[in-house]
Amino acid sequence: MNYNKKTVRDVDVSGKKVLLRCDFNVPQDKETGAITSDKRIVAALPTIQYLLEHDAAVIACSHLGKPKNGPDPKLSLAPVAQRLSELLGKPVLFAHDVVGEDAQAKAAALQPGQILLLENTRFEKGETKNDPELAKAMASMADLYVSDAFGAVHRAHASTAGVAAYLPAVSGFLIQKELEFLGGAIANPKRPLVAILGGSKVSSKIGVINNLLEIADTIIIGGGMAYTFSAAIGGKVGNSLLEADWMDYSKDMIEKAKAKGVKLLLPVDTVCADAFAATARSQVVKAGEIPDGWEGLDIGPETVKLYCDAVADAGTVIWNGPMGVFEFPAFAKGTEAVAEALSKTSAITIIGGGDSAAAVEQLGYADKMTHISTGGGASLEFLEGKELPGVACLLDK
Ligand code: 3PG
Repeated sequence: MNYNKKTVRDVDVSGKKVLLRCDFNVPQDKETGAITSDKRIVAALPTIQYLLEHDAAVIACSHLGKPKNGPDPKLSLAPVAQRLSELLGKPVLFAHDVVGEDAQAKAAALQPGQILLLENTRFEKGETKNDPELAKAMASMADLYVSDAFGAVHRAHASTAGVAAYLPAVSGFLIQKELEFLGGAIANPKRPLVAILGGSKVSSKIGVINNLLEIADTIIIGGGMAYTFSAAIGGKVGNSLLEADWMDYSKDMIEKAKAKGVKLLLPVDTVCADAFAATARSQVVKAGEIPDGWEGLDIGPETVKLYCDAVADAGTVIWNGPMGVFEFPAFAKGTEAVAEALSKTSAITIIGGGDSAAAVEQLGYADKMTHISTGGGASLEFLEGKELPGVACLLDK
């Protein structure tokens, strides 16, 4: 896939109506609906500000949540319009529909330097079906399409990909940055390239492991998925997370890595607990020797040393998935040690979105990383080497 895409700087935006797809899929308090993290809104500001300062009229749009049957007041983007307005320090007009009368009228009246936010794109049934009629209707309000919704580029939806069939389509600064770092790490990494893979399930990382086996010099396995690897080579894993159906695959990957000369590092020791609880009793045992009734919840101190050494002389490190149950402080040490090692290495450090990004932020290392992706599912599919519809639809440079 070509990652070298035209950006807002490569086109004339002055006096144009710009349909700007953002990822404003922000977490909200279940009771009050209050936005609990505005990171995604903040991440969109540079592109919005650039467009407004260059006399574009911005028609912003996004999905929020997964509405099932059309409009759902709980998933309205109105609170996002308000927060965006506070952050921009200027009014953000709001349309109560996506391509209906309100949106059409407000988009038509929009002046250069003004911004309008449309209602949740998923209130339109055609959005997730990539309905060409919906895409055409959205495109008809604008002269140019700008996508900055990295978190949604793995979706072939009307507002993330479909509209590009009807308008010139370029990227905003957030997508540009994600492509530069994630794309650079995949296409042309500074070596050695070390990939750290954690999280609970092997099954959710198959595509990533397959792809990284072709690219990485070292692959480090941690988190719950390590127990399936351990069991695959005859280890005892007690009550640890185990995907029995993926043991053969894990064994194949160990052999494939050997054949390719890729270093595949597995834990050599484990912090196991007598229950899945923050206050559980714990002990350190050798990997593959977890007693019956105990479960692995973190990598052990020897493994920490092994993994931190592997990171120290890396050229590039890609990290996706925590090393243990970092939400429980007693089992966060492995994840914290890896985060600290990444903060000290001179390597380019790239954190996949989702849990690893949350871990790095929670543990206070966020500002020490080269790049933390804003996409969860999107960055995973990126690392799988898949073509992303929301990137493929943009004009090449
Ligand atoms: C995300 O939060 O990962 C993106 O906004 C995509 O959301 P989705 O999984 O509902 O498509």
